[in-house]
Amino acid sequence: METLRLVLVFLHFVGFSALLGGFLREMRLRTMLVGAPVVIAAVAQFVTGALLIWIRTTMDMSVSGPKMAVKAGLALAIVLVAVAGTRVRPPWAFYGVGALAALATAVAVFWN
Ligand code: HEM
Repeated sequence: METLRLVLVFLHFVGFSALLGGFLREMRLRTMLVGAPVVIAAVAQFVTGALLIWIRTTMDMSVSGPKMAVKAGLALAIVLVAVAGTRVRPPWAFYGVGALAALATAVAVFWN
């Protein structure tokens, strides 16, 4: 079980890197577009996050309900803004994904 939890944490970090990496790459290219990899990374964060809650509960490890609710809300908002960004490509969607991803990371790290 512990190995599976660590694999899920690993995948959660891969999704996190893809989300941030996709954003920074677009900044570097100065195209400022939300691509499919960012949408996939956002969905991956949601799925791996939900599985992490499940495995931590199964292993009798602590899970903060309010923190998880805020993270789930932010991840859902990222998915919706990213999908809107791939369809109509407004600049606010690109910067919105970046800001929400930064906020979700701050919540993950500073909320204890
Ligand atoms: C863009 C969205 C997200 C980002 C950037 C993100 C980022 C992170 C980071 C950096 C950590 C490690 C920090 C730490 O453990 O102190 C973490 C852990 C965790 N995240 Fe997320 N997360 C996101 C979405 C979610 C969602 C939607 C859920 C669940 C609804 C979730 C559930 C968890 C759980 C349960 C852990 C603890 C893992 C463990 O140590 O067992 N995350 N997240």
